[in-house]
Amino acid sequence: MNLKEIMNWRYAAKQFDTSKKVDSETLNRILEITNLSATSYGLQPYMTVVVKNQDLKDKLVAASYGQTNVSDSSHVIIFAARTDIDEKFIDNFIKLTAEARNSDVEKLKSFKEMLVKSFSSKTDDEIYNWASKQAYLALGTFLIACADEDVDSCPIGGFVPEEYDKILNLPDYNLRSVVVAAIGYRHKDDKYQYYKKVRKSSEEMIIEID
Ligand SMILES: Cc1cc2nc3c(=O)[nH]c(=O)nc-3n(C[C@H](O)[C@H](O)[C@H](O)COP(=O)(O)O)c2cc1C
Repeated sequence: MNLKEIMNWRYAAKQFDTSKKVDSETLNRILEITNLSATSYGLQPYMTVVVKNQDLKDKLVAASYGQTNVSDSSHVIIFAARTDIDEKFIDNFIKLTAEARNSDVEKLKSFKEMLVKSFSSKTDDEIYNWASKQAYLALGTFLIACADEDVDSCPIGGFVPEEYDKILNLPDYNLRSVVVAAIGYRHKDDKYQYYKKVRKSSEEMIIEID
């Protein structure tokens, strides 16, 4: 399938076949692609939390307004914003950049100073909002990567972040949940897979300004 066919094949799956699980090699390939997602400055201010444990998935249903595809799923993935974006975090990013590019941290000094100055002037809420946007971008990449691996998914914004954080102890990891995806293999009885896609035409969605 080409990318257009892949994008038409995917849909927000409401019911997964519980007899089929996504194997770890497939999931790892999907997560590796997700990790290539673009982020602001390249800072990757989020983490991807993978939940496979059935008890935990069952607990998450109530925190997802009763959406049962969370427990039917093979895995639940939580895109969570990091709450530890501080000078140390930026320092580590600068070291990683220097290492990856066989360069010297000294050469990145002004970039680092710009980042530290910019982030030290932001409130926690501003940093959370910024990090959340990066997490959403990762979700988009993730959904496409799943479809490319013939894995079904449902993006989930209908959940209570504070409850997810509590159930998964996310504050212990300096994380706050942003957005969720349930993945697995579509159940043949999930009627949504047979529905035609609803999309406005490109003409309605695109505006050219000369
Ligand atoms: C950020 C986001 C949050 C969503 N939250 C939910 C959700 O909580 N439950 C659900 O069933 N679908 C959810 N969806 C799926 C959308 O309803 C679905 O993508 C949209 O109707 C288009 O349909 P399609 O993805 O099947 O093409 C969400 C989608 C996005 C992008």
